[in-house]
Amino acid sequence: MDYRGTLLSPVKIGPLTAANRFFAQPMECSDADAEGNPSDLTYHRYENLFKGGFSFIDLEAITITGESRSRLAQLEIMPKNAKAISTFVRRMKEIEPGAIFVFQLTHAGELSNPKFSRRVTVKNLPGYEGDLLREEEVDAMIDEFVLASKVAYDAGADGIDMKFCHGYLGNQILRPYNDRDWKYGGSWEKRSRFAYDLYERIRKAVPDPRFLIGSKVSLWEGFPGGFGSASPDSPVMDMTEPLDLIRGLEERGASYFVETIGNPTITISYVEADRDHTYMTFMHSYFASLLKKTCRPETVVVGSHFAPFRDGKSTNLGAMKPSDTALFPYAAKCIEDGVMDMVGLGRQSFADPLTPRKLMEHRESEVEYCTSCLNCLELMIRQEHIGCPTYNRHYTEVFTQMRKKLGKVDAMHT
Ligand SMILES: Cc1cc2nc3c(=O)[nH]c(=O)nc-3n(C[C@H](O)[C@H](O)[C@H](O)COP(=O)(O)O)c2cc1C
Repeated sequence: MDYRGTLLSPVKIGPLTAANRFFAQPMECSDADAEGNPSDLTYHRYENLFKGGFSFIDLEAITITGESRSRLAQLEIMPKNAKAISTFVRRMKEIEPGAIFVFQLTHAGELSNPKFSRRVTVKNLPGYEGDLLREEEVDAMIDEFVLASKVAYDAGADGIDMKFCHGYLGNQILRPYNDRDWKYGGSWEKRSRFAYDLYERIRKAVPDPRFLIGSKVSLWEGFPGGFGSASPDSPVMDMTEPLDLIRGLEERGASYFVETIGNPTITISYVEADRDHTYMTFMHSYFASLLKKTCRPETVVVGSHFAPFRDGKSTNLGAMKPSDTALFPYAAKCIEDGVMDMVGLGRQSFADPLTPRKLMEHRESEVEYCTSCLNCLELMIRQEHIGCPTYNRHYTEVFTQMRKKLGKVDAMHT
């Protein structure tokens, strides 16, 4: 099959079917209104993704609490937001009723910004100290995640992505570094309890099998004691616990996983590499293939980190013929080789939200490709509205004004 045929072929996810292989990665954009509801900017971004032909869209990290959060203008999902979220989902589904829309539920934990919220931790990590969470607080947090899932279901969402990645709370609890002796830490059995209890409680609260449950998981955080390391202070990679987690979540109803690695404040290049380190992308292929080998055949694996693949003319990926680094043929090959089932586009969805649509309409030559400049990340670090400053004039202006006011920040070392 040619790459078009592969990328535009349908795939089953639980009882639902995604019409093609394009997955829109969750991408936080810090543009909610004062109540944590979608603003005009939020509407505009998602309207573009729904028009753009993505068959599976993961709403950016939406917080289950306003008390502890990483972004000043983060989307929130609590009963107070229910009406606004329902309207939002309805408007998006009017654009493309067939697209699968899930919400990435999160709590920032130690990545909560202490300038405007309460930083809480499962065990204080140097540089990320905060209030140590009590067991009752985590019990209450599970209740909030379950409630958020019901809000998502009632609003018409097709499922949730319970976030276990990038060093946010769901990830912090899992890591070997969380070795304090408490209900949610110490042994692997106790560290995985939060994830397993959550899945069981969410499925019980929303028994509809058409409501998908899945997770984006950082299989390896990449620092001593991080998830996927051998012990609380070891830098050595050990996949025993991450793969056990995947099997445990599958048993509890996961129908899809999104591969990722790294932690954005400690090991940023693993999460998203800048243009000088685009070769990091190949690490992701390894971890995606590990997920494929571990999961049941019917469980959908979404691969990450495709921003370095461009038009086949202008990448700096060494040891490959430029023609082999074009996004569409490379992505199709990953699927044909059984490395993954779907292709997740993050920064590329900022650069050109119409990427899948242009492929469908034979307009590949019009696709605007991400340059991996990471200016979007700098906007995020600065708590500005986020988008693509390279191709979208609104964000060029936001970015230019920000730089005038604050100077340059080195996004890779912040
Ligand atoms: C500005 C920005 C916001 C992001 N927001 C999220 C998020 O909300 N949830 C998440 O899991 N990953 C988030 N990511 C990571 C991306 O989803 C993706 O995993 C990463 O950028 C690598 O993929 P790419 O090469 O397609 O960009 C974000 C990345 C950037 C640059």
